[in-house]
Amino acid sequence: MKHLLKLADLSADEILDILNLADQLKYERNNNIEHHILKGKTLGMIFQKSSTRTRVSFETGMYQLGGQALFLSNRDLQIGRGEPVQDTARVLSRYLDGIMIRTFEQSEVEDFAKYGSIPIINALTDYAHPCQVLADLQTIREHKKTLAGLKICYIGDGNNMTNSIIAGCIKMGMAVSVGCPKNYQPDAALMQWAAENGDFTCTDDVFAAAKDADVLYTDVWASMGQEGEFEARKAVFEGVYQINDKLMSVARSDAMVLHCLPAHRGEEITAEVFEAHAGEIFDEAENRLHAQKAVMVRLMA
Ligand code: CP
Ligand code: NVA
Repeated sequence: MKHLLKLADLSADEILDILNLADQLKYERNNNIEHHILKGKTLGMIFQKSSTRTRVSFETGMYQLGGQALFLSNRDLQIGRGEPVQDTARVLSRYLDGIMIRTFEQSEVEDFAKYGSIPIINALTDYAHPCQVLADLQTIREHKKTLAGLKICYIGDGNNMTNSIIAGCIKMGMAVSVGCPKNYQPDAALMQWAAENGDFTCTDDVFAAAKDADVLYTDVWASMGQEGEFEARKAVFEGVYQINDKLMSVARSDAMVLHCLPAHRGEEITAEVFEAHAGEIFDEAENRLHAQKAVMVRLMA
């Protein structure tokens, strides 16, 4: 593995290796065992969108590994004034040991990898959020003790989260069902790959999607960059594409609920379901730290 651009690029063994290392790093962190595996290394963190979890977990993770992290906002970099990615990637490769990028176009992180000469980590694009799903898989395995054979159901907008859930969970041998409106489906090519390589369904019937699920997952109806579409999306999603008690009743009785956060209570998830599963959801948020430390060790050590 040279970069983490999207989970579809990783083999099942590479994903499992990251999850195993993430568990080990979590154990060590919780037992005050320090590991300065990345001493002297610097991660650049380019943010073209807001972040709470990603920024703090990457920056803290880098410190815990003995390295340092630079927060580079779009407002401060010349890239925000039109300097091409090709040049930015080549310059930053001369100073840094790795770059984490959160941006809009998937092609931008792919271009960073193409023109730069250091590891590139996708920290969310409109297409994918691989770091989140590595933490999600770690969390599911912690709670359910296995991944293969479980059914995960995603309810809501077919977005960056959905694409990464499909890629990561199918590779781990999980069944994936998506319940989303017809005009808001995940990436078509990815859905075709999933259907050919595993147990995958996509339907606008949320109850069919959630039936017997071991894990229910949801995310916001309008992602970052889609704020102007919120009212139009709300008209389509409201009252149907929500994890609530009625939907939970068709899932397995021991089903867990995950949410990448930030959550909009009363929209994609009710406050009741959110609070009933807060233990799982905040374990998931914590695991961003451990899973990303594992990614950085594998890419940058
Ligand atoms: N889940 C997630 O990526 O959160 P942030 O947007 O706060 O980083
Ligand atoms: N789909 C959301 C995920 C946030 C972590 C967004 O892109 O805004």
